[in-house]
Amino acid sequence: MTDQTPAPYSGPTRMLSGVQPSGALHLGNYLGAIVKFVKLQEEMPCFLFVADLHAITVWQDPAELAKQTREIAAAYLASGLDPKKAAIFPQSAVRAHAELAWILNCVARLGWLDRMTQFKEKSGKHKERASVGLYTYPVLQAADILAYKATHVPVGEDQKQHLELTRDIAAKFNNDFGAQGFFPLPEPLIQGPGARVMSLRDGTAKMSKSDPSDQSRINLLDDADTILQKVKRARTDPEPLPETVEGLTGRAEADNLVGIYAALAGITKAEVIAQFGGQGFGSFKPALGELVAERFAPVASEMRRLMGDPAEVDRVLKDGAERAAAVAEKTLAETKELVGFWPGRG
Ligand code: TYM
Repeated sequence: MTDQTPAPYSGPTRMLSGVQPSGALHLGNYLGAIVKFVKLQEEMPCFLFVADLHAITVWQDPAELAKQTREIAAAYLASGLDPKKAAIFPQSAVRAHAELAWILNCVARLGWLDRMTQFKEKSGKHKERASVGLYTYPVLQAADILAYKATHVPVGEDQKQHLELTRDIAAKFNNDFGAQGFFPLPEPLIQGPGARVMSLRDGTAKMSKSDPSDQSRINLLDDADTILQKVKRARTDPEPLPETVEGLTGRAEADNLVGIYAALAGITKAEVIAQFGGQGFGSFKPALGELVAERFAPVASEMRRLMGDPAEVDRVLKDGAERAAAVAEKTLAETKELVGFWPGRG
């Protein structure tokens, strides 16, 4: 009997992730993604991009897009990413993303994309008016990841389905082209209390750049007073915090605030409850507000400095794009060869 188990990927470990330049960065982006990037840069080579190709799947004002692309890069740097360890670049500056996405569009199945919940949410009631790009968005995301043969992808919970699709596309490509182990099946890194930060106005909706209410989120560039006010006004129930972590079940708003505290303090929710259990929100909210404000103040001030010095940010983006392109071009060339494209033009 032959062994049917596909050969596993045996290449180097690499981390890749991206953030869209489509609105102000908030606490959810920070805890769900950026904090994890900073930690992982010590462990493996990192590729971190600004997802401008993804952003234009819905309308973006061109001047704003350019500004926000630098702003995301500034946020990466201000949060502690070291451009020598992590290649930081705009997605559109590395052509291999778009080219590989086309090949993967021909591997992914319509039925798979039809199941994507984010497209359903973002296209709303008028699906026929959504851009085609919004529909194939997750395939471009798979190309982002597979162009670097990334093995580790730190993201928030909302990206889980896109990561599963990436694994399906990678497995189908490897199988269809007799290239077992060519693309890795990337590991999503989602766990932790910051993986799904909810809106401050509604504990059942995720904190989001596109929520029309600014009160629903804490932006990375909010000043300390604004942060304290937003936390103070955050919706909660009238009960004090429970004595045990199980007592958070069914209390979405309380659970969210405790989760934010835990993620920022680097402790578990149980440890937060051990400290604040039985106390009212009148004492917990100021402690939480202070914690967020303290953490964001140096990040915001460094972001402002960098945004005032676009040349410095542009140098980082250019250097990052060159280093990223060297890796992605190699994967693309190998992929094209496997597909059977004419090898003449490298
Ligand atoms: P984007 O720009 O919506 O969000 C960037 C990152 O922030 C996380 N995130 C959250 N985490 C916790 N709680 C929240 N409320 C919250 N809101 C956002 C997201 O999960 C994400 O990790 N499709 C991606 C960008 C992308 C990408 C990629 C990511 C494009 N290609 C390849 C990883 C790998 C997106 O829209 O992220």
